[in-house]
Amino acid sequence: ATIEKGNFRHFMQKEIFEQPTVVAQTLNSYLRQIDQSVALPQIDFDLSAIRRVTIVACGTSYYAGMVAKYWLETFARLPVDIDFASEFRYRDPVLEPGGLALFISQSGETADTLAALRHCKAAGQTVAVLVNVPTSSMAREADLRLPTHAGPEIGVASTKAFTCQLAVLAALAAHMAVRRGRFDRAEERDVVAHLAEAPAALNAALAHDADIAAMAHLIAPARDVLYLGRGPDYPLALEGALKLKEISYIHAEGYASGEMKHGPIALIDEAVPVIVLAPSGPLFEKTVSNMQEVRARGGKIVLVSDAEGIAEAGEGCMATIEMPRVHPLIAPLVYAVPVQLIAYHVAVAKGTDVDQPRNLAKSVTVE
Ligand code: G6P
Repeated sequence: ATIEKGNFRHFMQKEIFEQPTVVAQTLNSYLRQIDQSVALPQIDFDLSAIRRVTIVACGTSYYAGMVAKYWLETFARLPVDIDFASEFRYRDPVLEPGGLALFISQSGETADTLAALRHCKAAGQTVAVLVNVPTSSMAREADLRLPTHAGPEIGVASTKAFTCQLAVLAALAAHMAVRRGRFDRAEERDVVAHLAEAPAALNAALAHDADIAAMAHLIAPARDVLYLGRGPDYPLALEGALKLKEISYIHAEGYASGEMKHGPIALIDEAVPVIVLAPSGPLFEKTVSNMQEVRARGGKIVLVSDAEGIAEAGEGCMATIEMPRVHPLIAPLVYAVPVQLIAYHVAVAKGTDVDQPRNLAKSVTVE
C-alpha cells in the first residue's frame, strides 16, 4: 500500500504526530498490563547470565543507545559500552564471554551496523537487535529480536522510530533488572506505570506545536545553535543538534550542560541561540546554574521545561517551551518532541526540503 501524508505537509511532520500511537503500539508488546510486568516478545530468551552490554549504532539510533546506557547501568547495574558502528570494529573491542551485543537500527540495513553485528557474532557474543523493519538483514541474523512497531518511516530524519526505540530500551533495562534480581516487583510495576504514561505525555507535548512554530523565526537566522542537557537528557541535546543540522542546515552542537564551561561557552554571544532541555527532577538545579552562565554572557536562551521549571527559571529567556511534568524515566521520550518540532519548524521557515534533505539517505548501505 502507498503511504500518504494525509492532512500533513510533510512525512516528517506526520511521523512526529504519530508518536503517541506508535509508542503505545510498541509498548503493548513489552508491557503486560495484566500483572504490570515487563516481558520481551521472545519470552523464552534468558538474559539473566549477561554480564556486560555492548551497544552499537549510527545516527539517531546511536543517541537512543546513549540513553539506554544510562538506564541499563542504573536499573540493571550492568556495565555498558557504546560506540558508533563505523568506529567499533577498528578499535579491536574487548568482547568477553557473557556479553550481549545490542544493535539499534531503524532500517536494520545500515552497512556499518550490520558489519559490526557480524563481527560480534563471530566473537561469540549474544546478538540482540532493536529494529523497525522485521524482515531486515539484522533481524534475520540476530539471536534476540526486539521489534519497534513504529510503522514505515519515510522522512529521512528519524523521529518516531527513535521514541519507539527508547520505549523498548526502557522496557529492556527494566526486564534485565528483574532478571538480575535488581528490581523487586514494586520497582518493576513502577517502571511499567511510568512507561504507560508516555503516550499521553507525548500528546501533551505535541499540543505545544503552535508555540514552537511561532518561535521558529528566532532560530532560523542563526548560523550556530547550541543544545544543552544533562544525564539521560544529554543525548537529547545531541539529537536536537543532529535534527537541526540534517534538515535546516544550521550548524548545531549538543553539549552536556556541565561541560559547556570547558569550551563552547567561548562561542556564546547574542547571535547564538542556546536551547536548554531541563525537565524538573534531580538534575534541574545544576542545569539551571549552567544556563545562568550562558545568560551572564549575553546568550539567548530557549528553555524547554515543565511549568514548575519555567516558573523557577524562565525569566529572562528569549523563549520558553512548556512540556508536561513527567517522571524522569520518560523525559527523554517526551523531550524528543520539542527537539523534533524545533528542527521541523525552523526548516519550514527556511524553506528547505524537510523530507529529502540534501546529501542524506534514509538508509546508508555503504561503509
Ligand atoms: C541515516 C538516517 C538517520 C538514521 C541513521 C541510522 O543517517 O538519515 O536518520 O538515524 O541513518 O539509520 P538506522 O536505520 O541504522 O537507524
